[in-house]
Amino acid sequence: MCGIVGYIGNEEAAPVLIKGLKRLEYRGYDSAGIAVLGKPGLLIRKSKGALQNLEAKIAGELAGDILDGSVGIGHTRWATHGEPSDINSHPHTDVSGKIAVVHNGIIENHAKLKAWLTEHGANFRSETDTEVIAHLLNFYYKGDILQAVIEALKRLTGSYALGIICENDPDRIIAVRKESPLVVGAGAGENLIASDVPALLEYTRDVYYLEDREIAVLYRDRIAFYNDEGDEHQRESSHIDWDAGAAEKGGYEHFMIKEIHEQPKALRDTLRARIKIDNNSKTINLEEIGFDASWAKAERVVIAACGTAYHAGVIGKYAFEKFTRVHTEAAIASEYRYSNPIFNPKDIFLIISQSGETADTLAAMRMAKKGGARIIAITNAVGSTLAREADLVMYTWAGPEIAVASTKAFTTQLMCVYLIALQLGRLRNTISDAELAAHIAALESLPEQAERILSEKENIQRFASLQFNKSKVFYMGRLFDYAVSMESALKLKEISYTHSEAFAAGELKHGPIALVDDTTLVTALCTQSALFDKMDSNIKEVKARFAATAVITYDDVDYFNNTADQVFRIPRTPDSLSPILAIIPCQLYAYYCSVLRGLDPDKPRNLAKSVTVE
Ligand code: M6R
Repeated sequence: MCGIVGYIGNEEAAPVLIKGLKRLEYRGYDSAGIAVLGKPGLLIRKSKGALQNLEAKIAGELAGDILDGSVGIGHTRWATHGEPSDINSHPHTDVSGKIAVVHNGIIENHAKLKAWLTEHGANFRSETDTEVIAHLLNFYYKGDILQAVIEALKRLTGSYALGIICENDPDRIIAVRKESPLVVGAGAGENLIASDVPALLEYTRDVYYLEDREIAVLYRDRIAFYNDEGDEHQRESSHIDWDAGAAEKGGYEHFMIKEIHEQPKALRDTLRARIKIDNNSKTINLEEIGFDASWAKAERVVIAACGTAYHAGVIGKYAFEKFTRVHTEAAIASEYRYSNPIFNPKDIFLIISQSGETADTLAAMRMAKKGGARIIAITNAVGSTLAREADLVMYTWAGPEIAVASTKAFTTQLMCVYLIALQLGRLRNTISDAELAAHIAALESLPEQAERILSEKENIQRFASLQFNKSKVFYMGRLFDYAVSMESALKLKEISYTHSEAFAAGELKHGPIALVDDTTLVTALCTQSALFDKMDSNIKEVKARFAATAVITYDDVDYFNNTADQVFRIPRTPDSLSPILAIIPCQLYAYYCSVLRGLDPDKPRNLAKSVTVE
């Protein structure tokens, strides 16, 4: 939800900012802008639409203008306040035109501040909440921009990551965050800020994840850190291990298809470090993350998350109950936070979030923490707010996920969920050693099995080329398959804009079947072996209403050969682990439908990768 960058060094800032924004486009792409401190002073260029519009604008510049400055900030926008337009694009400036601000987040008291600032002479030009920050800075500016920031922060409520430059103070950038991500990169003779690490990797791998309300002041040769009272403190940097290539398309047409193909590796990476050999047998090792016997006393597991991560949570519910026999609930974080939930200090509260910055998910976690629950976070973002605030963190080693539609983050979240559920089962003696060994072996087979599914992707592509124009696509399944159906329907609607829904197959005849006709494709997820006959009946029911039908089942199952129009096969695995494999054909189907419809699967309309506002 908006991406911000900043650069101070010896290179021309504008191209560095544009490059950084390209890496952050997944966060918002309805307009973009940069501000550079050049010879004539503060220069701003903004453009509605994709980043290339801004690039074209800058390419038209005469030499010595915007290209001639080595300090600047940039922004790619996902509109919240005011339509996408040049005027609403960031950076925003104060009345003097000397202070420029880029912002990611929402200033909740902006209306009040706007009224107050207008009374004090500010002249508002945009409809954004952000503009109040520029005018507030002007109000408090008495010759020291850092001091003005400290004063202005006292007036702001809401969430923000800010990059600020000032014409009268041309050799520094001020950066600060609260509840929106911001990373500071430390280079040699140059320093940077960005909403996310990939935007920094070309320049440095040494980064500082800013804490809430922490201020960083970037000079060319050093970075100083302050609290919001202005007291300076020292910080240790973190080193990024993954290389810049991980955030490139690497020959694939889109990030999404690249990330779908990266799943075998991501699954291997996520699993590898968590398996150890004890007396010739393999066990799960979660001690390094602090998951010890004390967690076995749990009386309930609550999983909260949003979107795709919530679907991982629904699978988690079935997995926890199967392996641990502990009552488990999966909750949509945005609902949970307002539901007056009941907490118990013996609850395990499992929070799942790829970005670790989703506003609703963080709010649910904070409530649970207050209620006394112990928090486990599963996230892909090292140093994210979620990672910092949880009692225990299990990272998914998926590498950067750039496409808005989550794929490898989802399957690696599932890998983590299974590892925790199995280990909890072992600690509670609810699974036998033999069962555990069998499941570890099955988990270890998943990466290679995922590779096999990917090697047959042309079957899905062919099917998509026949079906991509269907106006309604329904997914149905039972238990684990119902959760995979939800994720499949979300994937398809996100990137192909097809009306797609998931149904618990048994619910079909309680209403949804009224929608089924010859314009409908129904894909049945059939991996729960004890329920094959039930699924078979459900497929026959929709076929009788002239729907096209597809089935996803194991490669050794012939059951559906004469029922469905098309059968896709995945390698055999225990029914409880099937979601990691069964989702892959559905991800591919969504991807191909998007491409066949002439859309950009990496940047679906109206969506942003990281939803840091409510
Ligand atoms: O970063 P998070 O995992 O917390 O994000 C949650 C959802 O916003 C996210 O999964 C969203 O549904 C994706 N676009 C799914 O592809």
